[in-house]
Amino acid sequence: MRLNRRYIGPVLAAALAASAIGCIGGESPGPSDPSNPTNPTDPTNPTNPTDPTDPTNPTNPTNPTNPTQPTQPTLSEWERNLAARNTDYGSAMRTAALKLVGTLPTLAEIKDLNAATDKKAAYEAQIDKYLADARFAAQIQAFWRDTMKQGGTINNVNYDTAPNFAAQLTVEDRNLTELFTATTNSCPTFNAQTGAFTAASCTQASPSKAGVLTDPSVLRQQFSNMGFRRVRWVQETFVCTKYPAEVVAPQDVGGAAKYTAPWPFTSISGTANMGRVDFRDTQAVVCANCHATMNHQTPLFINFDMNGAYQNTPQVRLPTAGTPVVTLLDYLPAGEPLSWRKDKPTPDLASFGAAMAADPDVAECFVARGWNFAFGKNDIVNSLALVPHEVIATQVAAFTAGGFKMKTLLKQIFTSDDFTKF
Ligand code: HEC
Repeated sequence: MRLNRRYIGPVLAAALAASAIGCIGGESPGPSDPSNPTNPTDPTNPTNPTDPTDPTNPTNPTNPTNPTQPTQPTLSEWERNLAARNTDYGSAMRTAALKLVGTLPTLAEIKDLNAATDKKAAYEAQIDKYLADARFAAQIQAFWRDTMKQGGTINNVNYDTAPNFAAQLTVEDRNLTELFTATTNSCPTFNAQTGAFTAASCTQASPSKAGVLTDPSVLRQQFSNMGFRRVRWVQETFVCTKYPAEVVAPQDVGGAAKYTAPWPFTSISGTANMGRVDFRDTQAVVCANCHATMNHQTPLFINFDMNGAYQNTPQVRLPTAGTPVVTLLDYLPAGEPLSWRKDKPTPDLASFGAAMAADPDVAECFVARGWNFAFGKNDIVNSLALVPHEVIATQVAAFTAGGFKMKTLLKQIFTSDDFTKF
C-alpha cells in the first residue's frame, strides 16, 4: 500500500489521545504532546520541516509530493481507479433487478435497502430473492436463447427446448455440464408466466444421447453442407471462440501461410487421399488450421438429417457439383479417430459430451458468459466482448470446484466488488 498523508492521521490521533491522558495530571505539555510547539509531530511546529519523518517535510521520503522520491512504489492508473471505487448497493440493486427480473426494484425494496443497517447483507438477500423469482426463469431463458441463437416456434417446430433445458439447469442450480451429458429430460417445456419447467425427453432416436448436442431442434437449426455448422455452434456457444479451436506453434507445410493445428497435417482428407474437398489446400489459406479439429469432430453429427432426426446413414451433402452425400473419407483418412480435441478421442456423441464437460475452456466460457450477462455485454464471440482470464479466474475455480452451478455463479458475480462498486 502506498504511504501518504492520509495514513499519518491515525498516528496523530493516537498521539492526541496519549496527550489527553497526560493532561489529566495537569503537567505542562511533554515533548510528545502535539500541542507542545517543540514536538516534532506537531504540524504547526516551525522546526518541523527538519524532521525527516514529518509528512509535511518536503524531503520526507514518504511525502508523495517529495520530488526526490523515486523509490516510492506508485499504483498504476488502473489500480488507482479500482481502489477509488465506492460501494453503492442502491445502484447495484437497480442493475441487478433489471437483469435478473426485468424490472426496476420496487419502492419497498429500495426502502428496505435504505433502512438496513447491514446494507451488504440486505443487498445479498435481495439478490437471493431475485434469483428465486419466477421472472428470473424467464430472464435466464431469454439469456440462453440469445446464447444459443435459437428459440421460439417456427413452422410448428419448437426451437426452445435447448434454451429451456439450460434455463432449467440454471434455475434449479444443477450441474450445467448436463447440457452435454443428459440422456433423458433434456427437452423440457417452460411456462414463462409461472416460471415452471416440465421435464420432457427429446424425440431423438440417436444411439448415443448427449443433451443439447443431440437435441433435434439444434441439429435442425444448424444443418449445413458437410455438417460443419453444427460443430461451429458447439465451439462458439460453449468454448466462446471461433475456429481454429486448437492452435500450436506454427509449422511450415509448404504453403503461403503456416500450419498451426496440433494434428499431423495429413490426418485429414484432401484430394491426395481421394477426399472430394481438398482440406490440405494451402494456396490461399491453410484449411487444415480449422479443419484439422473440425474434420475429427463433424462425422459424429453427419447422420442427423435436415430435421435433426437421426438416420442410419449420412444425411449431409458436399457443396460440390451434384451435391453428393458425404462419406467418412471426405473428412478423414481411414483409421483416424473421431475426437473432441487432439488426444481426446470420442468415438460417439456421449463421449464427446463428456469430453466437453471435462474441458476447462468450456467451464471458463460459462463463467465469461455469466459475467457478460451481469455487465450487459453483447455476445462474446460475435462482438469480441472478451473477458480477460485474470478477471474471472476466481469465479472459474469456484464454479468448477462447486459442480458447475450457474445460479451460484450468478450470485457470486452480482455480489462481487466489480458489480457493487462504482
Ligand atoms: C478459419 C477457420 C477455417 C478455415 C481456414 C477454413 N474453414 Fe472451412 N469452414 C469453417 C467453418 C467454421 C465452417 C462452417 C461454416 C458454417 O456453416 O457456418 C466451414 C465450412 C466449410 C465447408 C462447408 C461449406 C458450406 O457450403 O456450408 C467447406 C466445404 C469447407 N469449409 C472447406 C474449406 C476449405 C477447402 C478450406 C481451405 C481452402 C477451408 N474450409 C478453410 C472454418 C474454416
